[in-house]
Amino acid sequence: MIKVETGNISLIFQVGDNGRLYQRYLGKKLTHASDVNFLPQGTEAYLTHGMEDYFEPAIQILHNDGNPSLLLKYVTHSSRQLEAGVNETVITLEDDKYPVTVKLHYTTYDKENIIKTFTEISHREKKPVLLSKYASSMLHLNRAKYFLTEFSGDWAHEANITERELDFGKKVVDTKLGSRADMFVSPFFQLSVDRASEENSGEVLVGTIGWTGNFRFTFEVDNKNELRIISGINPYFSEYQLPANEVFRTPDFYFTYSFEGRGQASRNFHDWARKHQLKDGDKTRMTLLNNWEATYFNFNEEKLISLMDEAVKLGVDMFLLDDGWFANKYPRSGDHQGLGDWDETKDKLPNGVGRLVEEAKKKGIKFGIWIEPEMVNPKSELYEKHKDWVIHLPNRDEYYFRNQLVLDLSNPAVQDYVFGIVDKLMTNYPGIAFFKWDCNSPITNIYSPYLKNKQSHLYIEHVRGLYNVLERVKAKYPDLPMMLCSGGGGRSDYEALKYFTEFWPSDNTDPIERLFIQWGYSQVFPSKTLCAHVTTWNRNTSVKFRTDVAMMGKLGFDIKLEDMNSNDQQFCRQAVNNYNQLKPVILEGDLYRLVSPYEGNHTSSMYVSKNKQSAVVFSFDIHPRYAEKSLPVRLQGLEKDRKYRVKEINLMPDANSSLSGNDQVYSGEYLMNVGLNLFTTQQLNSRVIQVIAE
Ligand code: GLA
Repeated sequence: MIKVETGNISLIFQVGDNGRLYQRYLGKKLTHASDVNFLPQGTEAYLTHGMEDYFEPAIQILHNDGNPSLLLKYVTHSSRQLEAGVNETVITLEDDKYPVTVKLHYTTYDKENIIKTFTEISHREKKPVLLSKYASSMLHLNRAKYFLTEFSGDWAHEANITERELDFGKKVVDTKLGSRADMFVSPFFQLSVDRASEENSGEVLVGTIGWTGNFRFTFEVDNKNELRIISGINPYFSEYQLPANEVFRTPDFYFTYSFEGRGQASRNFHDWARKHQLKDGDKTRMTLLNNWEATYFNFNEEKLISLMDEAVKLGVDMFLLDDGWFANKYPRSGDHQGLGDWDETKDKLPNGVGRLVEEAKKKGIKFGIWIEPEMVNPKSELYEKHKDWVIHLPNRDEYYFRNQLVLDLSNPAVQDYVFGIVDKLMTNYPGIAFFKWDCNSPITNIYSPYLKNKQSHLYIEHVRGLYNVLERVKAKYPDLPMMLCSGGGGRSDYEALKYFTEFWPSDNTDPIERLFIQWGYSQVFPSKTLCAHVTTWNRNTSVKFRTDVAMMGKLGFDIKLEDMNSNDQQFCRQAVNNYNQLKPVILEGDLYRLVSPYEGNHTSSMYVSKNKQSAVVFSFDIHPRYAEKSLPVRLQGLEKDRKYRVKEINLMPDANSSLSGNDQVYSGEYLMNVGLNLFTTQQLNSRVIQVIAE
């Protein structure tokens, strides 16, 4: 009997009489030791291809003698404490006919109720074995019904939530885009059992894979209505020849199991990420002004310096220079050329990036810069010099996505070059305080000039190459925060977030769309990772509405201050100021999603500080209907017997709050059971409410 447990979850394995490993239980923690003997045997934990199972296996191997089967028997297991509240259990399995070893790793985070799993595969056959399936994790559930929530979409409408019941057969959620891998679907899911999940009730397993490349989740309901969930790298065109004594380590799969709905599952992930996974998880984040939408490619030194003045006026921490600052033979005047040539464009920046860093310093703000180091435009000096560094089929026409191609990161020389881009900028201009690291193209026409006869390794080695680079960046510049971007949310996974402090969820900054997109990503990612900028998308919404939406995440601006009237400008300055005060609650607090935008015409969310001393509530009226009935919004996460003062903040200059009961003191009990009339009948109205214990 092997127990893998957190504060609330038990995952129990047992070795059967036949020596194989079975998963006997997954669910709410079983606290009475003797009960576990009554558990049914369950299903073989990590099912193999070629034996008696009739459904999708976790692993498939072709041995040297041509035998395609694997039978795994328990050999040993061990547990150790990694740190207080974090334990690792490793179960070692072996085939008794072939020298193949499979180690199942489970790391448990007691308090956060997260379990991290991965698998190590190795062998001692003479020649390489061929791995064609190699799951990070296989989990089994045996319940009446299963409901799967996926997060899919496309550029500018990422992470749309859809839920469906699973019937007999398979539902596969996967990607084969290679580099901008999550463009159509995010690498996480929610799986509710017995009934569709709700925010505050019901059992839901939430899982996500840490792999910045092709992933696959397979949900298969079998003839007995049992569900298996297989998570890992997408094995599509990724058969892997594994040499003897080399360990194939899968990516990590992380999951939580909540017995109080999705909200608790999200809070588990947020807490765990901040404490254990995210780069600078325990640190705050910088507000910024980005020039992308203010200028696109059309800027020069003078223009940028004047935008820095706007950043100073706004009161943000940093100015972020976006795309368009580099390349000379083919200057980056648009997205059709220059990628790959990372020297400053002389006409635009005659005094280089150095001058900009200096100016920012003089003005008392930080300076950040955009790069897209894994890519190349065919119109570039890099392409002319190093066609052999580019992923492309040698005998076919090139296919361009956003006029560009992906560099072959399986090649160590390319890894050096990509690392060198960051290293050179940081060496020349050590004052650079932030990078926005973009990745706009998926891999197409896949072929690596470097890998030669191992083409099916490319999807995997490419991602490993990326991690080598990011590891080097992190080792040399440990205090450098970076934003992960991929044409919006094309990359959004927890392995990447070991290296990145935050990510860009979408190029779509229409605040109404963002209410949905941020709602989607908030299911697994904490607010400090979700970059949210105030822009000019959807001018039907007020600057206040746009700012209020952006304040729910990591606030930034991408807008020309000079185009705003003085009222709006004043409001933005005040909002930045407010945000700075609220940062500890918004970035470190517990998120409670109160009213879903998917449910109708309004939405509301709140953050509560860990000590329950203060909270901030956001509410939005999107499209109220004529004479619709409006109910109070019941708050959550407060202390019932504590008194809280409720105060509307972030108002337009000179505006007074129209919130009934504003600036009154209520008990937590009242606020959570009766609630506040936050919603209005006005189109596109928004409110930010501070709730502070007296
Ligand atoms: C991508 C990003 C944008 C911007 C542009 C620059 O589309 O998502 O935020 O940086 O590239 O070309």
